[in-house]
Amino acid sequence: MSLKPHHLDNVLFTPEKIQSRIDGLVDEISGGEKSDNLVMIGILRGSFMFLADLVRDLNAHDVHPRIDFITLESYYGGTESVGKVEIRKDIEVDVTGADVLLIDDILDTGRTLQFAVQHLTDKGARSIKTCTLLDKPARRIVDIEADHVGFAIDDVFVVGYGLDYDSYYRELPFIAEVTFI
Ligand code: XMP
Repeated sequence: MSLKPHHLDNVLFTPEKIQSRIDGLVDEISGGEKSDNLVMIGILRGSFMFLADLVRDLNAHDVHPRIDFITLESYYGGTESVGKVEIRKDIEVDVTGADVLLIDDILDTGRTLQFAVQHLTDKGARSIKTCTLLDKPARRIVDIEADHVGFAIDDVFVVGYGLDYDSYYRELPFIAEVTFI
């Protein structure tokens, strides 16, 4: 590992806390208007675990979406303002006329989610709702909010439950702050 020295002692969300918030999110989502053409799209790679837990819980509420993923990559230059988003791998399901629920791990500057919403609008989705596990409102550059938010957090770097530091730690069942030492 060539990571800078750090520790993960500050656990922000335990597995139990995450699961309990997912139950709440699923109540919100399944309590809304029912769709006969729901497509859930996870933004990779960070959302894989969150989406997997959401859909299992939604199944218990008799919600049966089609599921796909899009791989997006954000680029940041010397300053944040030059950040741009590119598609590494697009969705394969046809979302024409579909009600899309877009799932992301964390809403930071907002560029990724804004890009994904525009992309799916261009593909002909009938409606698009967004759901992010974490939200860092202090970091927002683009004017976008998610329809469903798991937890709002301060401007700290976090890993676990799908989120990574240089591709490590995605497998952790909890979410912890990365503290550099
Ligand atoms: P934007 O700025 O487009 O970024 O809203 C969203 C993406 O940035 C990554 N990100 C993080 N990843 N810990 C991570 O592991 C963090 O604290 C963090 N903050 C932002 C993430 O890929 C997210 O989808």
